[in-house]
Amino acid sequence: MKQQLEEIRLRALAALDEAATPAALEELRVKLLGKKGEITAVLKQMGKLSAEERPIMGQLANSVRADIEEKLEARKLAINAAVLEEKLAAEAVDVTIPGEPVELGHQHPMNQVLEAIKEMFVSMGYTVVDGPEVELAAYNFTRLNIQEGHPSRDRSDTFYFTDDDSILLRTQTSPMQIRTMEKMQPPIRIIAPGRVYRKDEVDATHSPMFHQIEGLVVDEGITMGDLKGALETLMRQLYGEDAVMRFRPHHFPFTEPSCEMDMQCHKCGGTGEVDGQVCSTCHGEGWIELLGAGMVHPEVLSGCGIDPEKYSGFAFGMGLERMAMRQMRINDLRLIFDNDVRFLDQF
Ligand code: PHE
Repeated sequence: MKQQLEEIRLRALAALDEAATPAALEELRVKLLGKKGEITAVLKQMGKLSAEERPIMGQLANSVRADIEEKLEARKLAINAAVLEEKLAAEAVDVTIPGEPVELGHQHPMNQVLEAIKEMFVSMGYTVVDGPEVELAAYNFTRLNIQEGHPSRDRSDTFYFTDDDSILLRTQTSPMQIRTMEKMQPPIRIIAPGRVYRKDEVDATHSPMFHQIEGLVVDEGITMGDLKGALETLMRQLYGEDAVMRFRPHHFPFTEPSCEMDMQCHKCGGTGEVDGQVCSTCHGEGWIELLGAGMVHPEVLSGCGIDPEKYSGFAFGMGLERMAMRQMRINDLRLIFDNDVRFLDQF
């Protein structure tokens, strides 16, 4: 029996040394010390012993049990420490490793140009105003002197919402002239950037949605010279002091007189030719049309409650995509709307 106990002690201590997980330890504890464990089994045989032997065996059994318990406790601590160690190692975050660089985007080239233009007008004392894209035909056409039957009101050019053609997607930002003059009395100095819509087929220079910036100045004694001065200042700041522009007579129902402003083509320098070929940017014209403008028609003024005898004003409407294409040397309008990051990254 003594031998049995000594054997259990040796085997148990060795097995406990080997046990590597909390589960293995628990299994051994039950097997060795449990009610149906090995030591209990040996103790059950105590009855067979003599009275002298019994306390000696009892003492031995207790010492074996104490050794095993002590070992168990020690192994438990060691294993728990190892488990924790492993977990810490696995979950460690090395704060010194350089992070994954986050790709930062930037403003869309159109917005960059818009911001630059806004900033220049604001520095000249203009206020930036905003208005609806879903517009009344009254504002988009009628009150701008564009009467029923005018070709630009045609259903083949304009997106209408209603059968009576009274509500539409604005085809120009000029209705903002009316909306502004309705609300404000002179002196007025505003720009109104925004989207406009026309039933255009898509090609390199056309899209059914594009952007315009409307400008309106109304005050006493405003002349065509003020219009030219404002636009020339803008163009020189955008394109440099040597930018060449020209004003051509034109017709708009809501301005009188009216003009269009062209910029000399940046590609061919105004010659209309590149390497003996017709310039592809201006189609041989030597000029690129940038905007329409003119002196606000007296009837438009009086229609908004502004006395044309006392006040005069100028207005202009420029195509933002054209400006962006010119400034960023983009040759196809569709690139601006495609949102291909490889294209956008270049600006
Ligand atoms: N709204 C005109 C267009 O879209 C441009 C314009 C604006 C002309 C203001 C004169 C005055 O073509």
